[in-house]
Amino acid sequence: TVPIVRTVAELRKTVARWHDEGLRVAVVPTMGALHEGHLSLARTALERADRVIVTLFVNPKQFNSQADLAAYPRTEDEDAAKLASLGVHLLYIPDGIEMYPEGFATTVAVNGLSEGLCGAFRPGHFEGVATVVAKLLLQTGADLAFFGEKDFQQLHVVRRMARDLDIPIEIVLCPTVRESDGLALSSRNLRLSRSQRQVAPKLAAILFEAAARIAGGAPVDATLVEARSAIAAAGYARVEYLELRAEEDLAPLRPLDRPGRMLAAAWLGETRLIDNVEVPSG
Ligand code: PAJ
Repeated sequence: TVPIVRTVAELRKTVARWHDEGLRVAVVPTMGALHEGHLSLARTALERADRVIVTLFVNPKQFNSQADLAAYPRTEDEDAAKLASLGVHLLYIPDGIEMYPEGFATTVAVNGLSEGLCGAFRPGHFEGVATVVAKLLLQTGADLAFFGEKDFQQLHVVRRMARDLDIPIEIVLCPTVRESDGLALSSRNLRLSRSQRQVAPKLAAILFEAAARIAGGAPVDATLVEARSAIAAAGYARVEYLELRAEEDLAPLRPLDRPGRMLAAAWLGETRLIDNVEVPSG
């Protein structure tokens, strides 16, 4: 089993002891309902640090609807068992009051980076993410923090926030874990019907193909227009966005004169899926 702490005070006591012993401490922030994507972050953290803390907190501030928050899967016992078998050293599972005590009034907003892509369709989402991640980084006092490329914009928001607030931590990026058919792992995949599940991997396939064509010199805008219709034709109800941005800072990228990322969000019935792929520049 893996020890669980539920208060900032207990968490800080443990980390202070580790730091006194000269150990390097890593944190992997999650909202639980752990799958192989999360576990790959924990495994990488175990390779890079002496002690690994996984945090489980379903952060109400980053959800756009009460219904979405209520529907979020909660599987604490299974999560703890999976992490124990990996050899993770500590689970931090604060409740809502520990994280946001009465009178809590501060919001961390990362301007610019939070505005396009997912930010345009999920008002307040990245403020919620930046606020809770700032707290988790400060509460743990970890030396390293691990985030998945699956949520590429989130990674940029977190990195900018940590730099801007002088939080002394290294943000480490980990590759997206996919099913064998290419679908990026996500807790939302469980909501798909059988037939939706068959359509789902086409988003990744279309992104990979369009990225390869653009990397090979195809015109960016025409290729994006075609990819958009291909996603719709594959059975997705609606494409929220499909964009080419710079890998390094998410700035719009025309022409492809530095490494790029193609990012998309699309709806399959009632389920919103996101994905992104690399677009190498010449
Ligand atoms: P959550 O969706 O639980 O994801 C936790 C971490 O796992 C994030 O860094 C995410 O990018 C990563 N992850 C999810 N699916 C992945 C996949 N298929 N491959 C690789 N990594 C994957 O993201 C959040 O929680 C929250 O916003 C959080 C950062 C915890 C703040 O509340």
